[in-house]
Amino acid sequence: MIPVILSGGTGTRLWPLSRQAYPKQFLSLIGEGSMFQQTLQRLPWRDVHSPVIVANCDHRFLVQDQLSELQISPQTILLEPFGRNTAPAVALAALVVARDDPEAIMLVLPADHLIDDGPGFQVALEHARGAAERGQLVLFGITPTRPETGYGYVAVEPSSDGIMPVQRFVEKPDAATAQDMLEIGGYYWNSGMFMFRASSYLEELKSHRADIYEACVAAAANLRDDLGFVRVPEEIFKDCPDESVDYAVMEHTKNAVLVPLDLGWSDVGSWSALWDVQGKDERQNVVVGDTCLEDTHGCLIHARDKLVAMLGVQDLVVVDTKDALMVAQRDRVQDVKKLVNQLKVAK
Ligand code: GDD
Ligand code: MG
Repeated sequence: MIPVILSGGTGTRLWPLSRQAYPKQFLSLIGEGSMFQQTLQRLPWRDVHSPVIVANCDHRFLVQDQLSELQISPQTILLEPFGRNTAPAVALAALVVARDDPEAIMLVLPADHLIDDGPGFQVALEHARGAAERGQLVLFGITPTRPETGYGYVAVEPSSDGIMPVQRFVEKPDAATAQDMLEIGGYYWNSGMFMFRASSYLEELKSHRADIYEACVAAAANLRDDLGFVRVPEEIFKDCPDESVDYAVMEHTKNAVLVPLDLGWSDVGSWSALWDVQGKDERQNVVVGDTCLEDTHGCLIHARDKLVAMLGVQDLVVVDTKDALMVAQRDRVQDVKKLVNQLKVAK
C-alpha cells in the first residue's frame, strides 16, 4: 500500500493564519506537529511503503523540512507548478506509481484532517484493502452530525460485511439539500480519503474525464527530476482542467464502495470547524493567546502578538496576525475565501 499525501491546497478558509506561502496543512494548529506531519504519523508503517507527496512547488522546502523532522524518506515528492485540484494531483501520483506496478494500491490522504483514534483508522484500512484489491474505489465515510455544505455526501446500500456499495455521491450540496440528506438519513460524509489500485483510478478517470486523464498522461511523460524533487512541467500542465476527484470521478463511478470510519474526525477546513474540535472555556470560547473577555460567548480568538479584549459579543471569530486582523461572524466563515479573493483582486 502506497500512501499518497495531497498537500497542495492553499487553505484559504483559514486566512489570515493560513497563507499562500505557508498553508494550513503545514501549521501546527492542534496537537503535536503540523497536520501534514500528523497525517504521516498516523500511518501503519509496518504495512505501507514510502509515501508519494503531491505538493505545490512553492512549498517544496516546507515539505522536505517537515519530512526530515520525522525522518521519513518519501518515494517521490511531486511538485505541481500550480494547483489543478485533486483529480489531476491523484492522477499524476497514480501514473508515477503505475510505472513500477499499475496494480499497486494507493491510499490517498488529504493533509488537512484531524483523526482522534489511530487504531480505529488502521482497522478501517485493513477492511478497505480487500475491496481495493478487487478493483473497487474505496471511500471512507463519516456519520454526519450537521448539514455541512463543505463536504461530499454518500448514499450507500446496506451490507453485512461493512463494505457498502455506493448508490449516490453528492459533492458540496447547497444548504437545503444538505439538510434534506441529514433528515432522510442513511448518508455518510465523504472523508476525502480513498483507497484504490492505481489502474482502477486511471481507468475511471479515463472513462469519465478523458480530458484530465490525457493532460496528466502528457504531463507525466515529461516529469523532470530536480535535486530530490520531481517537477510537473508547467507548459503541459497549464492545459489540464481544474477539478476535484469528487466531481471528476466519485459523482460518476459505478465502482465505488464505502467503509465507515467511526472515530473522531474533522476536516479542519474553516474557523468554525476549528472551534468545533477545540477545548472551550465555560462560555464556549476557544482562546489561543492573551485575551481579556467580558460577557463574551461562543467566540474563537486567535491572537499571538497582542492582547485582545472583547466585551458583550457572541459567536465571533477574531484572528490577529502580524499584518492582518480578521473579524467574522462564526456562521459566515465559509466565506473567508471571498475575502481572500477580494485581496487577490486588489493586489
Ligand atoms: N497536490 C494537490 N494539488 N493537493 C491539493 C490540491 C491541488 O491542486 N487541491 C487540494 N489539495 C489537497 C488539499 O491540501 C487537501 O489536503 C486535500 O487535497 C483536499 O482538498 P480540499 O480543497 O481541502 O477539499 P475539500 O475539503 O474542499 O473537499 C474534500 O474533502 C472533504 C472532506 O474533508 C472532498 O473530498 C469532499 O467530498 C470531502 O467531504
Ligand atoms: Mg479539506
